[in-house]
Amino acid sequence: MDFHIQNPALHEEGKRRIEWAGAHMPVLRQIREEYEKSRPLEGVRIGACLHVTSETANLMITLKAAGAEVRLSASNPLSTQDDVAAALVQDYGIPVFAVHGEDRDTYYRHIEEVLAFDPQITLDDGGDLTAYAHKTGRTQGIVGGTEETTTGVIRFRAMERDGALRYPIIAVNDSRTKYLFDNRYGTGQSTIDGILRATNLLIAGSVFVVAGYGWCGRGIALRARGMGARVIVTEVDPIRAVEAVMDGFEVMPMRDAATRGDFFVTATGDIHVIGREALERMKDGAVLANAGHFDVEIDLEALRELSREVREIRPNLEEYRLKDGRRLYLIGQGRLVNLVAAEGHPPTVMDLSFANQARAAVYLWEHRGRLEPRVYTLPAEIDEEIARRKLQALGIQIDTLTEEQRRYLSTWEEGT
Ligand code: ADE
Repeated sequence: MDFHIQNPALHEEGKRRIEWAGAHMPVLRQIREEYEKSRPLEGVRIGACLHVTSETANLMITLKAAGAEVRLSASNPLSTQDDVAAALVQDYGIPVFAVHGEDRDTYYRHIEEVLAFDPQITLDDGGDLTAYAHKTGRTQGIVGGTEETTTGVIRFRAMERDGALRYPIIAVNDSRTKYLFDNRYGTGQSTIDGILRATNLLIAGSVFVVAGYGWCGRGIALRARGMGARVIVTEVDPIRAVEAVMDGFEVMPMRDAATRGDFFVTATGDIHVIGREALERMKDGAVLANAGHFDVEIDLEALRELSREVREIRPNLEEYRLKDGRRLYLIGQGRLVNLVAAEGHPPTVMDLSFANQARAAVYLWEHRGRLEPRVYTLPAEIDEEIARRKLQALGIQIDTLTEEQRRYLSTWEEGT
């Protein structure tokens, strides 16, 4: 079996962590048990480019149990958990091409290894595998792909608009059981987790600036407030800005927030949200982190140009000493803080996201040849089925509509 990982000897620790995560992913486990019997992906080659974490490992194991042959590369050079990669190879027989800290060339060589196995379905987080398949003209034979995150979905919608998309994509991100939980509660908790592990600073009483009030930004702002921070939100969308105001946050332009913040977290998906001007106005000691998929949200080039010295202070924390004497602290090289400085989202929410991924892979295979090269969302019934399974796993029951109520909702005549 071909693979490329850091150290196969790490597998025992990785296996224990995969099992721990799996114990907190009951919906995915239930789906696995069903697919083990029905084998809906028998012999299907699935190429995945996802963060190599203990949660992703459970998805890979599920797809294999469903009959698929899978290959996995990393969707970020710094998110790979080398012990998990080792366990996937050694204990589960799943080829992994991912080494924590790999350089850009190696990152793409690993994607190349996934494509070399002629996948019929691609799974992406950020869109690099699919984009690479398109760029290198190797989309024939691929019946469809999935996309895990907002950034990738934005990329694929742009490809669809330009008529460049060659196969259907299921935007897993856009399932309600994905973005309402993973993006909000997952990012909310794991971003704070990353900041704490990297800095060990107190959040209470600090001024905490969140750039972007999408589902990720909402979660981060909510949790930062929960820990006692005074939270400022920056936005460009007027509706989201009103929402942030009515959720009780201060809202202002980054230019003004820059002079106030102790912590800054970007979660917009866009470039240079913290630009040179903001960096020039920040207080001595400010801490910067990015929770978006790519390391473009903080203008790192400007930060380097403004600095005369950079040194590592703690793991995943660099001090930039600026020419004017101020010090700014950057977490995890401006790459996604929750996966670089912590372990990503907890399994309890990845359970929902990866249940969607597993269902999306089967949906693509069952509908092969019948979908256009467009961006789709999973049908609402699948979304609701995943939510029902989660409730069941949590031991929570809910009401159902009575016949009278159902009828009432479907009539348009005035009620009595
Ligand atoms: N994205 C965010 N958290 C993650 C995790 N724990 N595993 C895989 N992808 C993730």
